[in-house]
Amino acid sequence: MEQQKKVILSGIKPSGELTLGSYLGAIKNWVELADTYETFYMMTDLHAITVRQEPADLRSRTLKQLAQYIAAGLDPEKNTIFIQSHVPEHAQVGWVLNCYTMFGELSRMTQFKDKSVKNADNINAGLFTYPVLMAADILIYQADLVPVGDDQKQHVEITRDIASRFNHIYGDVFKLPEPYMPKVGARIMSLQEPANKMSKSEQDNGGCICITDKPEDIMRAFKRAVTDSDTEVRYDPANKAGVSNLMQIYSSATGKSFTEIEAEFAGKGYGAFKTAAGESVVELLRPIREKADDLLKNKDYLQSVYKSGALKASSAAYKTLRKVYKKVGFVER
Ligand code: TYM
Repeated sequence: MEQQKKVILSGIKPSGELTLGSYLGAIKNWVELADTYETFYMMTDLHAITVRQEPADLRSRTLKQLAQYIAAGLDPEKNTIFIQSHVPEHAQVGWVLNCYTMFGELSRMTQFKDKSVKNADNINAGLFTYPVLMAADILIYQADLVPVGDDQKQHVEITRDIASRFNHIYGDVFKLPEPYMPKVGARIMSLQEPANKMSKSEQDNGGCICITDKPEDIMRAFKRAVTDSDTEVRYDPANKAGVSNLMQIYSSATGKSFTEIEAEFAGKGYGAFKTAAGESVVELLRPIREKADDLLKNKDYLQSVYKSGALKASSAAYKTLRKVYKKVGFVER
């Protein structure tokens, strides 16, 4: 008997340009896993509006992100690619799960705490219940694995807690998912402030690389990257955060191990290393940028991808929605 393929789900908020962090931390893994799993990848526009967005920008960034997913190697024939708001089951199951999630456990989410500081004038209820919607995203597809960067691990853990609580009351409704993180690249740091995560909210200071950045801008950012007063290229995140971050990036872009990188730049100093790291990223991103630009010229094609993605996603998600509604006691329509 043919075994059912395991299921993967993941997503990215179209709230800014895709960054090198989200590429190395998430998308690169998505592409590597596409052949062996049944995969669902989305643009999480519902999550994006927890922070105020310019509507026209959100719309165009969502399409651009779709083009970038495909350009990065996600074949729409093999992966279900869709826009979160096109599949109403996310919000529907999200509401139910809100009633099985505790105020206390949401209050402990580090991302909520960070974002409340950054958006002090807009600490809305969506920002608070964000992880519940994310739990619904994952659980409605009965996902086994959720490939994410390190910062989303806590949200996958709370998803498991919510699912366990629900299952404990109603029987085995949800599969418990596991986070899946790359060995190298799960937490790419800012090139300017290596103690902070590289993040799309900090695009202007040279600390963040976007997938669409031009080669000369990428090279400039790498040459200006903050390191230390030492000269030795050595992996030591506690004492050499900047250099170690560049090593992660270079390793992830080229497949070279830390030991190989240390040997390659022994006695050469930081200048040569920064140039090599920058060039590796330029070459990594160039084909993605070029292909995405091409795809964006073909709006009909992109529309056909997200339309058929939504249909496929919805039919999978609807099965779980029905089960959930039945379990909690809703009258069938
Ligand atoms: P988002 O949009 O903030 O980030 C998208 C993905 O990129 C990873 N990532 C990084 N990895 C390494 N280093 C970095 N500097 C870096 N920055 C971002 C993130 O860990 C993430 O995997 N809540 C999610 C979106 C989401 C989702 C989901 C993910 C909504 N529903 C269901 C998985 C499953 C988010 O805001 O990611």
